Amino acid sequence: MMLRFGIIGCGAIAHAHAAAIAALPDATLAACCDCDVVKGRAFAKAAGAVAFYSDYHELLASNLDVVTIATPHFLHATMSIAALQAGKAVLCEKPLAMTPAEGRAVLAVAAKFPGKYAVIFQNRFAPSLVAAKRLLASGRLGKVTGIKATLTWHRDAAYYQAAAWKGQWATEGGGVLINQAIHTLDALCFLGGHPRRVRGQVMTALLAGAVEVEDAAMATAVLPGGVPAVIFATNDYARDDPATLTFACSGGELTVTNAGLWLDGVVQEARTIAVAKDQKAAWGDGHQRLFAAFVHRLTGEADPLVGYLAGADALVPLTLLNGIYQSSRSGAWVTLTE
Ligand SMILES: NC(=O)c1ccc[n+]([C@@H]2O[C@H](COP(=O)([O-])OP(=O)(O)OC[C@H]3O[C@@H](n4cnc5c(N)ncnc54)[C@H](O)[C@@H]3O)[C@@H](O)[C@H]2O)c1
Repeated sequence: MMLRFGIIGCGAIAHAHAAAIAALPDATLAACCDCDVVKGRAFAKAAGAVAFYSDYHELLASNLDVVTIATPHFLHATMSIAALQAGKAVLCEKPLAMTPAEGRAVLAVAAKFPGKYAVIFQNRFAPSLVAAKRLLASGRLGKVTGIKATLTWHRDAAYYQAAAWKGQWATEGGGVLINQAIHTLDALCFLGGHPRRVRGQVMTALLAGAVEVEDAAMATAVLPGGVPAVIFATNDYARDDPATLTFACSGGELTVTNAGLWLDGVVQEARTIAVAKDQKAAWGDGHQRLFAAFVHRLTGEADPLVGYLAGADALVPLTLLNGIYQSSRSGAWVTLTE
């Protein structure tokens, strides 16, 4: 069975989507869409003269099985709902939506189309995270007593000037938390459990004047069993260091990044992430593994990583980061409900 894919939004990450589709034997890229006609046509040509649409409704009316959504955050909810209702399977880039309320609206529609919707959290498919998930579930490390999540990246004013939707609350929905650190927050919740409450603070430091949104954040979340998770994220650093999760456990310490896993400081699993020349190392090669798992779910083929696809649980990191924004405004703890 050959699945026909369409991509909505032909910007930076769309290249990773096209590469992931090209690598799958049972998938083909049949169409793409961008409201920027010049950019969209160039993308369509580079992808092998696939059909091009400037209006996504026209793409949704065409003969496609799967639609991937790679547009600005404020469009994710509307486009996901429209694509599902048009009968397409949907792979949407993170975040699920800009707010938990919008996210719940998407999930209510997705629930009517079982197996046909997933949010792209490709880092879940990194072999190091897969190994961490299995190790934590095995109980070998004993009880988790605390978790540390850090992301220290570099996004300067030029990065924000290059895409008008970034840096604005109305179109990006936040800054470092909703765009960059959301992968780390997702991994924290996927590996450590769903936070019950959070107290946090955000600020705009080096990017003040260039963006409306936060460029730095710190928070303490409380997980089931009272386990504290401390979170630090900033776009003000000199470079993109590997985002890191550390689990302090009664039987040892586990540290995991996209590229490695360490037990008590000793490397257990390490790899070099293969990255195409126009992609950022931080994105890793997880799109390919994730797209394969989604296709296998649609075609009914066995795939050990199908359970790593984010669906309804994509709401958890969104609820967490939204709680940090709320807490920063109120100065109080925020109770998190899904
Ligand atoms: N998974 C990851 O690691 C990862 C990495 C980068 C970006 N992303 C996500 O991918 C999405 C896109 O990010 P990007 O960096 O590629 O942004 P981008 O600005 O480079 O690309 C977005 C594209 O969407 C197009 N677009 C805007 N409105 C549209 C509309 N109404 N119809 C059709 N096309 C429209 C724009 O013209 C642009 O080409 C965001 O959700 C972002 O968070 C994910």
